[in-house]
Amino acid sequence: MSRQLRDVVFVDGVRTPFGRSKGQYAETRADDLVIKCMRELLRRNPNLPPERIDEVAIAATTQIGDQGLTIGRTAGILAGLPTTVPGYAIDRMCAGALTAVTTTAGGIAFGAYDVVIAGGVEHMGRHPMGEGVDPNPRIVAEKLVNPEALFMGNTAENLHDRFPAITKERADAYAVRSQQKAAAAYEAGIIQPDLVPIATRSAEEGWGLATTDEPMRPQTTMESLAALKTPFRSHGRVTAGNAAGINDGATAALLMAAEVAEELGLEPKMKLVSYAYVGIEAEFMGAGPIPSTEKALAQAGLTIDDIDAFEINEAFAVQVLSLLDHYGIADDDARVNPFGGAIAFGHPLASSGVRLMNQLAAQFKQDPAKRYGITTMCVGLGQGATVIWENANWNGESK
Ligand SMILES: CC(C)(COP(=O)(O)OP(=O)(O)OC[C@H]1O[C@@H](n2cnc3c(N)ncnc32)[C@H](O)[C@@H]1OP(=O)(O)O)[C@@H](O)C(=O)NCCC(=O)NCCS
Repeated sequence: MSRQLRDVVFVDGVRTPFGRSKGQYAETRADDLVIKCMRELLRRNPNLPPERIDEVAIAATTQIGDQGLTIGRTAGILAGLPTTVPGYAIDRMCAGALTAVTTTAGGIAFGAYDVVIAGGVEHMGRHPMGEGVDPNPRIVAEKLVNPEALFMGNTAENLHDRFPAITKERADAYAVRSQQKAAAAYEAGIIQPDLVPIATRSAEEGWGLATTDEPMRPQTTMESLAALKTPFRSHGRVTAGNAAGINDGATAALLMAAEVAEELGLEPKMKLVSYAYVGIEAEFMGAGPIPSTEKALAQAGLTIDDIDAFEINEAFAVQVLSLLDHYGIADDDARVNPFGGAIAFGHPLASSGVRLMNQLAAQFKQDPAKRYGITTMCVGLGQGATVIWENANWNGESK
């Protein structure tokens, strides 16, 4: 039997507003966040009969409690999907949602699925980083991984050491811009269409409605950042201001074969071009997007000059800057995270990949002359993840 690969398209993506740990979602379950995203995808796409969904892949880094029990399956049942729709859970730490998307996309291209929901959730308030982990002692005893690399902030300090040209001032200036761009994107109404309002409840304050990203700090200045402590190293360079925070949130995306989107009358926003994951030394985790981007570009037969739009996860400013320096891209290049990034919105680990895709789709919508775009992120224990997308509504002009 011979097979023909099928094109995979991103039709839609949504997310909850992100919360500060112990903030607006302090008393909200993690699974309820991702269920609401799945319901919203169905509501926004009434042409999609729910029984046409062939798979639900939901990522979470800590897969216990309300993020456990094979969350793709449990969330599917709770979202009211037909019993026949299966589901499973995925984990690649920060790149969980990205992996949920690319793994199911492979299944679509292969012909195993027509339509999937892929996303992620992380409630870092209910599930602190590292909760319940039990690293094999050999990892440290046999020096397979430098023990300090188990703490992400240390790896960011290591990157500053490795690339001395990336100073604290550059990292802070990048962070200030991220906050400013995020505020401007809100002002222009670019972020809100991606958001699903979430009903919240607090024993003290009663019912509420989360409609905006709680971590944002639009008043951030170089002076306010200069005053912050460096929690990972005395006289270090990484602070709460130039890093993403500890956050809660969920995302979900609707992917399908291009021919199925056409059959259902759904309009794709982006087409998958290539993707790559690459491992690097765990203690320089933040540089992971460099080799994964090289590999994804090579697979696609593209060079960095072909890329018109970048959505780079801002786990730490230094890590974004290391990728930009590698390619000789300016810190304030207009193609890079023009609507702000994780430093402003937050980074609920396994959910963030779809936020990047939503914002890339927004870049493509804003400028149909942009053809190719990249979503990329670094991953704990030393990995990089890169997905290259093509604007489904590219107007045929070259930038
Ligand atoms: C950096 C980190 C340790 C800070 O944690 P925290 O101390 O709980 O962070 P907070 O939000 O309380 O901020 C600390 C202080 O900085 C201040 N601050 C934070 N961002 C600021 C900004 N943009 N401007 C001004 N002040 C800011 C806060 O107001 C707070 O001040 P306070 O101590 O006077 O209350 C934590 O966010 C972290 O670990 N981030 C990385 C997460 C991570 O590893 N993700 C995975 C990536 S691979």
